[in-house]
Amino acid sequence: MARHGARAPAHARPALGPGLLLLSLAHLCAGLKCVCQLCANNTCETGVDGACWNSVTLIDGREEAVKSCLSPSQMKGQVFCYGSRNVSKRSCCFTDFCNNETLRLQPERPAVEPGWGSLEVAAVVLVPSCLLCAVVLLAVCTAQGQRCRLARLHRPDPEEPPDDRNLMSPDKSLQELICDLSASGSGSGLPLLVQRTIARSIVLQEVIGKGRYGEVWRGKWRGEDVAVKIFSSRDERSWFREAEIYQTIMLRHENILGFIAADNKDNGVWTQLWLVSEYHEHGSLFDYLNRYTVSVEAMLVLALSVASGLAHLHMEIIGTQGKPAIAHRDLKSKNILVKKSGMAVIADLGLAVKHDSVTNIMDIPANHRVGTKRYMAPEILDDTMNTSNFESFKRADIYALGLVFWELARRCPVGGSYEDYQLPYYDMVPSDPSVEDMRKVVCDQKFRPSIPNQWQSCEALRVMGKIMRECWYGNAAARLTALRVKKTISQVAVVKDIPD
Ligand SMILES: Nc1ncnc2c1ncn2[C@@H]1O[C@H](COP(=O)(O)OP(=O)(O)OP(=O)(O)O)[C@@H](O)[C@H]1O
Ligand SMILES: [Mg+2]
Repeated sequence: MARHGARAPAHARPALGPGLLLLSLAHLCAGLKCVCQLCANNTCETGVDGACWNSVTLIDGREEAVKSCLSPSQMKGQVFCYGSRNVSKRSCCFTDFCNNETLRLQPERPAVEPGWGSLEVAAVVLVPSCLLCAVVLLAVCTAQGQRCRLARLHRPDPEEPPDDRNLMSPDKSLQELICDLSASGSGSGLPLLVQRTIARSIVLQEVIGKGRYGEVWRGKWRGEDVAVKIFSSRDERSWFREAEIYQTIMLRHENILGFIAADNKDNGVWTQLWLVSEYHEHGSLFDYLNRYTVSVEAMLVLALSVASGLAHLHMEIIGTQGKPAIAHRDLKSKNILVKKSGMAVIADLGLAVKHDSVTNIMDIPANHRVGTKRYMAPEILDDTMNTSNFESFKRADIYALGLVFWELARRCPVGGSYEDYQLPYYDMVPSDPSVEDMRKVVCDQKFRPSIPNQWQSCEALRVMGKIMRECWYGNAAARLTALRVKKTISQVAVVKDIPD
């Protein structure tokens, strides 16, 4: 006869009628049948007063179930039968095959889902611990930083660069910012974070020019005008190089364009490369001379300032706060800007090369034929320049300086008349000359721009004419130096200041 029906433990059984009592006693004398995984037919039989056992335990991240029979001695007052932790759960039951159900560990806690691996469990334990550590660390660092700032306030160190937050105080003008920086002793550029902060708060106003590497905009920063040269991402190297040169230690000079900031802004699609500098509303010397004629005095101021800027660029300053010698390699009237004061500044240093006299090393491979063809020195045009000698690059700059002086001096009135503005060699080569066009005129025919006879009647123009010729020698070594040019012009300027 198949056993069936529920049977409560002896102490919990209800009272039965006499007939049934006998039957029940017979049942009580027999054991229970239970599910047993490791037994034949997956079935076992308990002794009298035994129970079916069902348990589940977390072993190596997996739930292992055990189903078997429990003898009365094993039950030990049913102590075995209870347990409900997230790693082990047991139960005993008292009807046939009552352990044929699946036990689950902690089904009420969704955070530890059944079937989680040790990794997930570890994560649940570790993540909150790590967060707690991070919060503690942050608190310690903040306290430390606060203490450092206080210490700095109490003991100012002149060697230390100024605090970025102090630099960026809202009432500071660009000039003051740059002055603070010079006072800090680094003299090579604003801290990168300050540069980025400035660049990102500039509001672009209008395009003011277009060159080989992109557009130049007038922008506003805290109400002040700034110039923003925007390079396309494919010209990243030019952007980087120009920013690098402008930040050469000790480069700042009243006749070199004042660099403010470089920034590379990624909008997710492309990178915008900005170079921010002082804005000069007159624009380039080329623009200025096209628009205006200049008095002899104004011409001397412009010429002297260009010569001073170039002399500073070419000069090497020895020492820890020294400056390497720099050759411009693209000097021309479009790369010189006119300040409100009437002075000029040299701009566009992207092609410049620096020289270290101790190691005799130039900082970039000297590709000699760069720059603007019209302004190339004869030795560049006919490829005879000694590129291993840094002096060669300075001498090529001097040749171009002579051409700029010629453009400038033509706009001075002499005897009541002056010449139209013209580019050098305007009457000898086509408008966009090739190297070959230039070489024929400058090297083969040895032509130079013509110096008008009337210049002899004005001392300043006579001296300027002489300087030009000495800048244009075919023999580069015979050319004047920038320092010599500067001294000669300043002497003329002093003489001019003496009233007749
Ligand atoms: N800081 C500045 N302030 C005012 N105008 C500027 C400034 N920088 C550049 N410009 C104007 O923008 C123009 C374009 O300058 P950019 O240097 O890009 O080209 P370019 O000198 O004309 O030609 P190239 O690419 O051959 O150097 C200049 O000619 C000048 O008129
Ligand atoms: Mg330029």
